[in-house]
Amino acid sequence: MIGRLNHVAIAVKDLDAAVATYRDALGAKVSAPHDLPEHGVTVVFVELPNTKIELLRPLGENSPIQGFVDKNPSGGMHHVCYEVDDIYAARDQLKRAGKRVLGDGEPKIGAHGKPVLFMHPKDFAGTLVEIEQV
Ligand code: CO
Repeated sequence: MIGRLNHVAIAVKDLDAAVATYRDALGAKVSAPHDLPEHGVTVVFVELPNTKIELLRPLGENSPIQGFVDKNPSGGMHHVCYEVDDIYAARDQLKRAGKRVLGDGEPKIGAHGKPVLFMHPKDFAGTLVEIEQV
């Protein structure tokens, strides 16, 4: 079921510093920042040859990543995103395997305009997992 690694998301307080690290020190191609108010984040996409890194900064009052950034002031890996062909089939298979879906269990449109779901980190080796239908 699981497909390619679509992206790794890194949450940071200082987006400019993170961009400088990826662009200037690592020599990666980075996008301009995009505000995604419906997700409570500003995101910068970092293109790597085989996957993407998403640099996330909290946006607005009730950002879902604010607590994470407060606990990790120098930034940290927030989630990994795996591609699936059919998000409903993937969700149902994971639920049958006893894995918890976050939120109301219904896919939402993610940062790339595709349906996504988040899975409970305690059920995935301590890592927040996003699945995205591609
Ligand atoms: Co993501």
